[in-house]
Amino acid sequence: MKKIQISPSILSADFSQLGSEIKKLEEGGADLIHVDVMDGHFVPNLTIGPPVIKNLRKYTKLPFDVHLMISPVHKYIENYAEAGADIITIHPEATENLKNSINLIKKFGKKVGVSLNPKTEISALINEIENIDLILVMSVNPGFGGQKFMPEVLDKIKELKMIRDKNHYHYDIEVDGGINFNNSKTVLEAGANILVSGTTIFKENNGNIKNNIEKLKSM
Ligand code: DX5
Ligand code: ZN
Repeated sequence: MKKIQISPSILSADFSQLGSEIKKLEEGGADLIHVDVMDGHFVPNLTIGPPVIKNLRKYTKLPFDVHLMISPVHKYIENYAEAGADIITIHPEATENLKNSINLIKKFGKKVGVSLNPKTEISALINEIENIDLILVMSVNPGFGGQKFMPEVLDKIKELKMIRDKNHYHYDIEVDGGINFNNSKTVLEAGANILVSGTTIFKENNGNIKNNIEKLKSM
């Protein structure tokens, strides 16, 4: 049974105080820090890049769970590895050759994540599945925090868990987008073991991060 982990998304944090926000997440019991990188091309939003990640590295020892919503992604993998990413998650649509990009992430000693948008089938990564450390199931169309969870992805989560258990693969199943206190139990029961959350963790209960992380974990 994989350990339930919480990876708060800093997309919902105060971008003028990212260092102290990350410290608050660590003090609040976060297991990972989910860093949403957006390029305004793969998704219609623009956030942060390697220089910011490099500067944030000193604020926590927690793993940086870096979600690259950028395209093309292959030529930038080295930049994020050097900036301090621990998990580098890419979208299959953003690389010409998923196998080559996975091997490049591994070459830098980083964990490999592959993300499936709501409309992207498991077939997009099935040929590489045994080389993947984390599958990020998007439960919203990527680009923005605060969107509504899409329940149609629950079947994909269940199928990924069945494939992993049947073949004794090792990947974590992380779910990202619209996770809140009403759906987190259902998502975990479907087979996820890592929950990404931005809005719920930063905004609920007057922004009581520790309370919100514990509540998500205990559902
Ligand atoms: C969306 C990002 C998500 C998002 C989650 O493109 O990948 O990580 O920030 O935010 P909430 O929890 O507010 O949906
Ligand atoms: Zn994300």
